[in-house]
Amino acid sequence: MPATQDTDTVIDIRGLNTRFGGAVVHDNVNLTVRPGEIFSLVGTSGCGKSTLLRETIALQQPVSGSIRVFGREVVGLSDEDALPLRRRWGVMFERGALFSALTVKENVGMVLREHTPLGQTLIDEIAALKIALTGLPADAGAKYPSELSGGMRKRAALARALALDPELLLLD
Ligand SMILES: Nc1ncnc2c1ncn2[C@@H]1O[C@H](COP(=O)(O)OP(=O)(O)OP(=O)(O)O)[C@@H](O)[C@H]1O
Ligand SMILES: [Mg+2]
Repeated sequence: MPATQDTDTVIDIRGLNTRFGGAVVHDNVNLTVRPGEIFSLVGTSGCGKSTLLRETIALQQPVSGSIRVFGREVVGLSDEDALPLRRRWGVMFERGALFSALTVKENVGMVLREHTPLGQTLIDEIAALKIALTGLPADAGAKYPSELSGGMRKRAALARALALDPELLLLD
């Protein structure tokens, strides 16, 4: 599958405005990420980086503006229409956002169960591979998020973000 559908950009943000009550978080933000680029967003705490990420993956709506990912407009996109896009991006959230009732291996495997027809044996093998890729020790797969250090939780969240070999990896 090509990295983009009908444009040469992976992410294209135009005229983005976000406000929480009277507080302006994004004022006419424009940003383009092209295939193969590693794009870093740097800014002071509370300047709107995580909000921008949530808007990019259609978890939150801006006040106005356009966000196109793989050529598709995600502003105003329904959950159903967002599903094919969710298979193409992986997200590591700022605080991990792992499911506390699932082990690390189950957290990674859940993505594969949701989005692929793979059997449990293969899912377990892929999950173990992704966990190893992040530098976590092999026994971390059987642990619950509450049993992990902050850094280990970040790595587990990265393993989950990588589960589907995404074309686009978003790291907060
Ligand atoms: N749901 C919300 N309701 C009200 N205000 C919000 C909400 N989410 C974020 N904010 C505010 O929007 C601003 C941007 O928050 P955001 O989390 O995007 O910052 P950030 O750049 O990721 O910061 P950090 O570097 O600390 O992670 C902050 O002032 C925050 O208080
Ligand atoms: Mg943040």
